[in-house]
Amino acid sequence: MNGNEVKISIGLEGIYIAETKVCKIDGIAGKLWYRGYPIESLAADSSFEEVAYLLLYGSLPKKTELDSFAEQLKKERDISDNIKMIIKSLAQKSHPMDVLRTAVSALSSEDPELTDNSPEANLRKAVRLTAKMTTIVAAIGRMRAGKDYIKPDNSLGHAENFMYMLSGSKPNKEVAKFIDLMLVLHAEHGTNASTFSTMVTGSTLADLYAAITSGICALKGPLHGGADEAALKMMRTIGDPANTEKYIEDALAGKQKIMGFGHRVYKTYDPRAKILRSWFTDIGSKSSGEVKTLTETALRAEKMMIERLGASHGIWPNIDFFSGPLYIWAGVPAELFTPIFAAARVTGWSAHMLEYWPNNKIFRPLDHYTGQLDLKYININDRK
Ligand SMILES: CC(C)(COP(=O)(O)OP(=O)(O)OC[C@H]1O[C@@H](n2cnc3c(N)ncnc32)[C@H](O)[C@@H]1OP(=O)(O)O)[C@@H](O)C(=O)NCCC(=O)NCCS
Repeated sequence: MNGNEVKISIGLEGIYIAETKVCKIDGIAGKLWYRGYPIESLAADSSFEEVAYLLLYGSLPKKTELDSFAEQLKKERDISDNIKMIIKSLAQKSHPMDVLRTAVSALSSEDPELTDNSPEANLRKAVRLTAKMTTIVAAIGRMRAGKDYIKPDNSLGHAENFMYMLSGSKPNKEVAKFIDLMLVLHAEHGTNASTFSTMVTGSTLADLYAAITSGICALKGPLHGGADEAALKMMRTIGDPANTEKYIEDALAGKQKIMGFGHRVYKTYDPRAKILRSWFTDIGSKSSGEVKTLTETALRAEKMMIERLGASHGIWPNIDFFSGPLYIWAGVPAELFTPIFAAARVTGWSAHMLEYWPNNKIFRPLDHYTGQLDLKYININDRK
């Protein structure tokens, strides 16, 4: 690169923006660690509450620390009448992600520590957001279906209580474990688009609510978090599993992307998708009706995509491919998939902000201007 050449990285591909101890992804080996712990062991042995603590505080909690953290989350679960009213006014006409970003933005008006940017206050805000976002997502699900808000049940853990507030009844152990697993798998994933958006907003020294609202907005798109809902939509459009291969063939021929495949960092099987796949084959084999149809379609699509684009193009299933049919089995409607993702990722977004703020520097990249210069201004009446 000489003095006149500019090296542009479209989409910031390959650019490092910060040092971090929150998360490491090895996209070639297909490995993921939260604060040094392999995702496989957290998925098998941990819980969302423990992972949230790990991300926010930097180490695994002792028993007393976890109990006290879980209590703090419970204390912060309920939402005000004002937030409920906002959700109710939008739930039936807007997508849940749009309702979520509005409700989270509105939460800022109720936090007495909003403008206190000390690490301690930000940690407390992160805990409030983690507790309340799950409640908001459940409330959106209820009100979207024309049902009333259900108050949190503090005898229940985070994932169990979410399903209780959404459905009105306590989930069975398998469903509660699955929702907890989804929260663990979605809690953090490096400097992806939504985390970067969160950090860009936070780097201006806007408050944590503003930063998290930015993260939610970026997560919505089908190239990012919205891929889970889009992948299920595709499986439903395929309808009969026997149509899968033709659908994929036509889509690829038309240069369409197959949602739930491909990743900027993973050039092999996403380790989170691998974890979900074992649930997938198990639930698929003992289900009937739509879940059975969806799982069959998904497995045929997976086989064909891996044969066509796996090793040759590095396009493999990602976490958003297998989650849809499992959520349907658990009783979660499709439009809530991405909001649940956000309700988990708030912990990772917050952890990155807490890490970045002590040595904050505003994000301000450059763009390379290729237009004309010094054009002569012509009066509007004289323009041809
Ligand atoms: C995740 C994603 C945005 C990564 O994007 P990226 O690193 O910028 O890669 P690109 O979109 O430039 O893709 C590179 C090539 O692979 C192809 N490709 C990538 N993902 C594909 C998919 N899901 N289906 C078909 N082709 C795909 C692109 O068409 C492109 O082909 P080309 O070089 O012939 O033009 C992309 O893989 C994608 O859109 N996937 C579907 C959405 C999704 O599942 N997102 C959730 C990610 S966790």
